[in-house]
Amino acid sequence: MKTQILQPNKYNLHLCAEEIRGGGLVAFPTETVYGLGANALDEEAVKKIYIAKGRPSDNPLICHVANAEQIDRIAYVTPSALKIIRAFMPGPVTVVLRKKNVPNVVTGGLDTVGIRMPAHECALDFIRECGVPICAPSANTSTKPSPTRAEHVLHDLDGKIRYILDGGQCGVGLESTIIDCENNLLLRKGGLEIEKIESVIGKLGSVSDSPVPLCPGMKYKHYSPDAEVILALPSLNMRDRIRQFYDKSPQKTVIITRGGDYGDRNVFDVGRSLNDYAHMLFDAFRTLDEQGFERIICEGVPEAELGAALMNRLLKASGGKTI
Ligand code: TXA
Ligand code: MG
Repeated sequence: MKTQILQPNKYNLHLCAEEIRGGGLVAFPTETVYGLGANALDEEAVKKIYIAKGRPSDNPLICHVANAEQIDRIAYVTPSALKIIRAFMPGPVTVVLRKKNVPNVVTGGLDTVGIRMPAHECALDFIRECGVPICAPSANTSTKPSPTRAEHVLHDLDGKIRYILDGGQCGVGLESTIIDCENNLLLRKGGLEIEKIESVIGKLGSVSDSPVPLCPGMKYKHYSPDAEVILALPSLNMRDRIRQFYDKSPQKTVIITRGGDYGDRNVFDVGRSLNDYAHMLFDAFRTLDEQGFERIICEGVPEAELGAALMNRLLKASGGKTI
């Protein structure tokens, strides 16, 4: 199968919606990362997602919708979900609710479903044109960093899908925050800051408060480039520690930094703000792999606001290797 990158004009959106209605897969941009979409109500189509990604079938998919009516058709909305929907949708947040009419293949056999309304014009136009909820995981091969550009999707899924809608580089760059709205628990840190969500629905519990694993995807390895990732924990002397560690590294090494001065050592500068860092992180991982680096040292950040999700992804990518 030949894979084409398409600009999201009217004609191409129609072509992609036809592909979805015919039981095919289409990759599309969102404000967080690119998704690999299928008609959530078509079991055979959804199965193709797991095959294309090499994803374990007990790891449920998020359903993407274009309006609140579509949410009512696939889930029972709780009061806390309603507050999140009103305050933050469309936006980088997913609510987990008791499902209605959603096939088991989408939800990994769970009786709940994750739902999200992406804040991206192309995604919303595409979902509207399809006329059905679109279930989609991130459009990477399982365990690889989520794609934040159409070219990343092509790299991972070339020959496996017909179309990739190109919406440019994703604005947020990290996946959505996931909230279990049945139990008011935080399941995954992500693009919408927890402080903002708690200001609307009150204090959230965390997954570790629950006796059963609630977010199946979290048990799998994630987000790692081929290079070894080392996370420098933030402190006043962090950059000194990084310089020393770099100088002792026998491998071809690079530092991901927010504007640090590392002399003539290899650096990848992601900009200054937490938003810039989040926006560039997965792109940096893929670019540095392509450039043949074997070790990537990442500057850590304080765990507030977007820093919480960033540190979560950095820790996962490092497999817990910190300095
Ligand atoms: O930003 C995002 O969320 C992106 C874009 C494409 O929307 N999607 C994304 O999907 O990151 P994925 O499949 O890579 O991650 C979804 C996570 C998985 O960890 C999965 O286990 C969890 O959501 N999840 C989905 N449905 C769930 C449910 N009913 N209960 C608990 N966790 C669920
Ligand atoms: Mg993913």
